[in-house]
Amino acid sequence: MQAYLKLDHIDKTFTRGNATTEVLKDINLTIEKGEYVSIIGHSGCGKSTLLNIVAGLTGATNGGVLLENREVNAPGPDRAVVFQNHSLLPWLTVYENVKLGVDKVFAKTKSRAERDAG
Ligand SMILES: Nc1ncnc2c1ncn2[C@@H]1O[C@H](COP(=O)(O)OP(=O)(O)OP(=O)(O)O)[C@@H](O)[C@H]1O
Ligand SMILES: [Mg+2]
Repeated sequence: MQAYLKLDHIDKTFTRGNATTEVLKDINLTIEKGEYVSIIGHSGCGKSTLLNIVAGLTGATNGGVLLENREVNAPGPDRAVVFQNHSLLPWLTVYENVKLGVDKVFAKTKSRAERDAG
């Protein structure tokens, strides 16, 4: 059976001028639908970078992400990331921060009850 989400041989390198930082090297992970996975590691080890690649916000240097066998190469409503900082509104609750994006993307296609349940 194919995995729901497959991270396939992902490398990520950031280049700034002459400096190159290899952040992710050969990351492989398969996640089934309904499975709950935590990625843990020290600050700067590349957790957010990996999530950004899954979200389609940044590309992998090598390898890629497959969601239900389709390659991820852009953001889409089938994947969501709650950012660590910058984009969070501190006067809203966690739920309200998440709801902002859900309401924006699904305003026309899902009822309020469905958006709440999702
Ligand atoms: N756009 C970028 N350009 C250059 N380097 C970057 C960029 N984004 C992240 N990095 C570097 O990649 C490494 C991984 O960063 P990342 O934010 O993915 O770590 P993290 O595991 O999420 O850390 P934290 O636990 O602090 O959130 C760090 O060394 C960071 O400085
Ligand atoms: Mg992070």
